[in-house]
Amino acid sequence: MKMKSMISFAIGIILVATTMVTHAADRKMATAPADFLKMTNPNDMDDLDKKFLKKAKKVYKRKCKKCHGSKGDGKGSAADDMEIQPTAFNKAGYMESRKDGQLFWILKKGSEGSEMEAFGPGTDANLSDEEMWSVLAYIRKEFTK
Ligand code: HEC
Repeated sequence: MKMKSMISFAIGIILVATTMVTHAADRKMATAPADFLKMTNPNDMDDLDKKFLKKAKKVYKRKCKKCHGSKGDGKGSAADDMEIQPTAFNKAGYMESRKDGQLFWILKKGSEGSEMEAFGPGTDANLSDEEMWSVLAYIRKEFTK
């Protein structure tokens, strides 16, 4: 075998192996790009009024609950036979471990290879940035444990 084809062969093996590992082990979600990671929720988390939360809860119930569950435990009615389980927001310490910009990025763009679709402008769900930040504020407020 020529050097060049040996190298491509080796790279091929490595790619196949890493794909197998990512599928087998605990799933690690992709990390948002830097410009997203530095974003913070524009809503004042210490001052979310009832009307705001009621509206955000409606969006959650309509668009998220069937997978993420009414308690945010990832056990929604559609979650049963999903290979990649919906995130449990209510796992102790979980929400604190996740940056606003990370959550926003996944919500806006979806999580490749999972049933978490993109909800941002121009998608089927077509949520505005404002609606996405609101529902994320609701999730933090309601499910952080
Ligand atoms: C059809 C099922 C489904 C629906 C509906 C759904 N999700 Fe998800 N969601 C998932 C799955 C599955 C994951 C895990 C993705 C992964 O592991 O790659 C996820 C992951 C996420 C994450 C990433 C959490 C993190 O730690 O980065 C956020 C945020 C999220 N969902 C928010 C929402 C919101 C808000 C809605 C409603 C507007 C919603 N999801 C609707 C299935 C769903």
